[in-house]
Amino acid sequence: MNILILGSGGRESAFAWKLAQSPKCSQLFIAPGNAGTGQYGTNLNVKVNDFEGIKQAVLNNKIDLVLVGPEEPLVKGIHDFFLADDLLRGVPVIGPQREGAQLEGSKDFSKQFMERNDIPAAASKTFTRETMQEGFEYLATIGLPIVLKADGLAAGKGVLICMSVVEAQQELIEMLTEAKFGEASSKVVVEQFLQGIELSVFVLSDGNNYKVLPSAKDYKRIGEGDTGLNTGGMGSVSPVPFASGEFLQKVEQRVIIPTINGLKQEGIPYKGFIFIGLMNCGGDPYMIEYNCRMGDPETESVMMRIESDLVDLLQGVAEGTLDEKELVISDKVAATVVMVAGGYPGEYLKDKTITGMENVRDSQVFHAGTYLDGEDVKTSGGRVLAITSLQDNMFDALQQATADASRIYYDGMYFRKDIGFDLL
Ligand code: AMP
Ligand code: GLY
Repeated sequence: MNILILGSGGRESAFAWKLAQSPKCSQLFIAPGNAGTGQYGTNLNVKVNDFEGIKQAVLNNKIDLVLVGPEEPLVKGIHDFFLADDLLRGVPVIGPQREGAQLEGSKDFSKQFMERNDIPAAASKTFTRETMQEGFEYLATIGLPIVLKADGLAAGKGVLICMSVVEAQQELIEMLTEAKFGEASSKVVVEQFLQGIELSVFVLSDGNNYKVLPSAKDYKRIGEGDTGLNTGGMGSVSPVPFASGEFLQKVEQRVIIPTINGLKQEGIPYKGFIFIGLMNCGGDPYMIEYNCRMGDPETESVMMRIESDLVDLLQGVAEGTLDEKELVISDKVAATVVMVAGGYPGEYLKDKTITGMENVRDSQVFHAGTYLDGEDVKTSGGRVLAITSLQDNMFDALQQATADASRIYYDGMYFRKDIGFDLL
């Protein structure tokens, strides 16, 4: 079958790498892709939110299945767009329809969904400009620190952790009345702070059946020792050593099963990945967030550990036969080190030539913000490359990925050398 992946990051590179290995994949296309995805398939110059352009690409290239990488086209209704079009209706889309994508697209929707379905999560309330006064009163009651979340998509920047009630009040005013995060903060979820260690669990669902994919931990801060500004993600490891079998059982019973059942009971169709962001609070799982897609850079580590044919699994999602499919997960450990541009996550350097990729010894080099300029591979994004290594144990995986990252060079290059070492 011919497959189209939408997106251009490290996540989509890892999907492309994995799908291209399947004997069921005849032709693979990536829109728009990057300098690396061209190794696995054909890049198409179409943006992920250009639905008409995607339609033409699907028809021109006789695409049989579309895998959506990022959240934005899902929240904007790409799946609904396919279902409403006579020519596209028969082409399955992996990724939920607009309503299911609200699990990520609206924090208020997702908190209410958790509440209705008895899924453990931090206590919270949602406020608007009209109810800001009640918001102030609530802030004073929930204890410090206080978490404020813009309701809508805010490119990963819409969560604030405030250390005082005064700071939280000020931020609430800016979010609700000064559109600090634009339309996304016209509603704000005020939430209790959860103390614990964070991890992500990934589920693939056909709307009825599900498979639990490998769990992973990502590292969000720019600086070593988890310091400095938040980023899209500086590295990941899978599996997560502190997520024991017993803990993952609790996640399945308390979170995954109620989520799948809740979607079914509420009549919300869901074919795609569910990213479950969790806090392990003293051995019990509490929800932080849902995302309606895979994580980046978690996907890079997760894909390396899936031994089964991903095309076969995605076909199961499309056809509603996921229960008949096999999911084999490697016992090995995958570690990903993300190489970023100088200045990231602030203003960052671009158009720098990348060298040394041929010296990498035992890791996959997944491209993210790269493009081809003649023969040269150059940087275009904040996150440039994800270096993923699969080894027998965590120490070797971390060391190999880190060593291989250091074999690559571009002006302003930076990566964290401590990814995962806190878990050893
Ligand atoms: P989100 O955009 O929902 O992923 O939130 C960004 C980050 O904020 C999360 O990855 C957590 O590290 C942190 N966070 C969000 N909600 C909470 C919470 N209730 N308690 C503690 N940390 C939180
Ligand atoms: N790594 C976190 C995310 O993809 O949202």
